[in-house]
Amino acid sequence: MSRTDLGLAEAPAAAPALFRPITIRDLEIRNRIWVPPLCQYSVTERDGVPHDWHLVHLGSMAAGGAGLVIAEATAVNPAGRISDYDTGLWNDEQAAAWARITRFIRSQGAASGIQLAHAGRKASVWPETVDRRGSQPLDEGGWTTVAPSAIAFDGLRRPEALDEAGILAVIEDFRAAARRAVAAGFDVVEVHAAHGYLVHQFLSPLSNLREDRWGGDLEGRARLLLEIVREVRAEIGERMPLFVRFSATDWAPGGWDEEQTSTVAGWAAEAGADFFDISTGGLVRDVRIPVGPAYQAAHAEFVRGRAGVSVSAVGRITTPEQAEQLVASGSADAVMFGKAMMRDPHLALRAANALGADAAHWPPQYLRARPEANDGEF
Ligand SMILES: Cc1cc2nc3c(=O)[nH]c(=O)nc-3n(C[C@H](O)[C@H](O)[C@H](O)COP(=O)(O)O)c2cc1C
Repeated sequence: MSRTDLGLAEAPAAAPALFRPITIRDLEIRNRIWVPPLCQYSVTERDGVPHDWHLVHLGSMAAGGAGLVIAEATAVNPAGRISDYDTGLWNDEQAAAWARITRFIRSQGAASGIQLAHAGRKASVWPETVDRRGSQPLDEGGWTTVAPSAIAFDGLRRPEALDEAGILAVIEDFRAAARRAVAAGFDVVEVHAAHGYLVHQFLSPLSNLREDRWGGDLEGRARLLLEIVREVRAEIGERMPLFVRFSATDWAPGGWDEEQTSTVAGWAAEAGADFFDISTGGLVRDVRIPVGPAYQAAHAEFVRGRAGVSVSAVGRITTPEQAEQLVASGSADAVMFGKAMMRDPHLALRAANALGADAAHWPPQYLRARPEANDGEF
């Protein structure tokens, strides 16, 4: 879908750009302050089932006025979990638990998304929030990891290269998880093709040395993503938005980059994707990344311009003014706040106040706390 289809022109001109609703397929999202996927490593029973923490974590950001809340990287099969504290969506018990969460998010006027993921060679590690060995291989209870080629991520165990049947099974798992995402009431499905996880491992020439149809040139390396996008689109139907998260660069010579991202984003759009969530990195450990305010936004802008697709920017965006500037100037169509949203789940309400937007999103229970009722104090 091209950018002109997104209904930007219909928005009231006076509203700050961040608070203009955006329509993607049949979904209208009330503003452009979104929550990116944030792994919580909080599935204590190790069964992939989200519970109260996930409800409160995601629900508070929906009550806090965010337009779209995307649930964390959620594995499409058990081997695809980063750790065994990850959420999953490979069975109906997990889908039922997610349904409780999507119902609450919707009740707050926000849209819900889920990031479908497979960690590939970066699976089977200690979760950073649970153990100081975070991101080191699990010693007991670990499992065999898979990847396009049998090349280890620095510090982790060597993966097995997937064979043709294994690749087709992964695609089927994404499809089945998308079916459960619809059943669970999610409004958006995002395919995780970033941060050095399985789909990114296929995209990057540094981790994909295959010589069959799933590797080699750009078309071969992009085949897994495009097949997943086609299968997920077939499963979710024509009305529901489909996002892809890319790392626009590996920050490493000879790796995946903005040009390849833009070309493949264009192909993914033809295959049924609507929106691109642009991050960077994660494929190679210890690369030098110039982290600073909004440091990845230029990558989002590049992909938006080069591929003619809609994008969100993410990464060290912390203030409403910064986010407003990114959307108003046309660098991005929406902005995601990760760590800033964890510091203040009501960040979107605060942003509405700061930018003078109509704060229609206050939960009625909290009306007496509105600045209007408190001499402007927030
Ligand atoms: C605790 C935590 C968990 C994260 N989990 C995920 C994830 O599940 N999927 C993903 O694509 N990115 C994940 N990220 C990256 C964030 O989505 C976001 O891109 C990153 O934090 C940069 O944005 P920020 O500076 O606003 O936090 C995570 C980041 C943090 C801090």
